[in-house]
Amino acid sequence: MKDSFGRNISYLRLSITDRCNLRCLYCMPTEGIEHRQHDEILRYDEMLRIVAAATTLGIRKVRVTGGEPLVRKGVIGFLQQLAALEGIEEIALTTNGILLADYAQALCDTGVKRLNISLDSLNPSTFKEITRGGDLSRVLAGIDKAEQIGMKIKLNMVAMRGVNDHELLDFAALSTDHPWSVRFIEYMPTIREQHWQQRIISGADILALLHTHYQLQPLTTDLLCGPARPYRITGAAGTIGIITPMSEHFCGSCNRIRVTSTGQAKSCLMSNEVTDLRSLLGVRQRTALIDTLKKVICGKPEHHRLGTDPDSTTPFSMASIGG
Ligand code: 5AD
Ligand code: SF4
Repeated sequence: MKDSFGRNISYLRLSITDRCNLRCLYCMPTEGIEHRQHDEILRYDEMLRIVAAATTLGIRKVRVTGGEPLVRKGVIGFLQQLAALEGIEEIALTTNGILLADYAQALCDTGVKRLNISLDSLNPSTFKEITRGGDLSRVLAGIDKAEQIGMKIKLNMVAMRGVNDHELLDFAALSTDHPWSVRFIEYMPTIREQHWQQRIISGADILALLHTHYQLQPLTTDLLCGPARPYRITGAAGTIGIITPMSEHFCGSCNRIRVTSTGQAKSCLMSNEVTDLRSLLGVRQRTALIDTLKKVICGKPEHHRLGTDPDSTTPFSMASIGG
């Protein structure tokens, strides 16, 4: 359905867990985040009920996120059930890739054909530093496996000045040899860790750097690109995308709502407003659930202000909401 600003909301991002096997420095404080109790996290059947209700309002695509979705037990069975819901046309998954080598085939068999893989460094020690202990070789093995079986791969690289900005060209080079979409995301100070101001690097600066080495052709945007501005290095197998939540918000074309693993609906990642769905999951409350989701969509704000006024958003971890 359309929201109050005429945007057609057809995309639901569903976080199935707030747990993660990494602790990326821009996502969590050093000690990690306080996890929700097991019984606060929705059961899979409850999540399916929410998605089914959302399909009646025109939701057609679901992206399953976390935390790290592959750490939740039973995820494959859940994806199978999600795929079987009437009205759902596409299921995608965002993962950090640590468990991907083990899960790629099963994921593909459930019908998940598109993967967004978060990868912020190609250097084992920088990777370890950013993720606070992660093993890069496992992610690379996961990507290999997913590619072998024909899954569509998008890499998401959060660019941070002084942390991994020296790798921007290496990441861009990946798109020349592989049919991947390599996307550079402006770092967002969502948890306001120390020195966050110095880490910010704008999409324009990223692009300027890429232009020093590559000829980039802008591609026409289609609906599948989401918020990324797409380019192709001349002759490359894959594409490059620049995602600029900070310097140039893309709220005008935002088509999504979110549901957290505890059953809170959010119409905008940056909004402090949440709507509890947990109390509406009884068998006889389907109409109330649908009405509430309708209100969430209608109440979607026109745009966020994180870029111009970081204090307008209360600090949060992406792992607790779903990236
Ligand atoms: N800034 C930019 N991107 C972020 N992500 C998580 N936290 C942030 C942040 N603070 C990204 C992850 C992943 C996606 C789910 O969101 O790296 O690619
Ligand atoms: Fe985990 Fe993703 Fe947060 Fe990194 S950014 S700690 S992989 S949830």
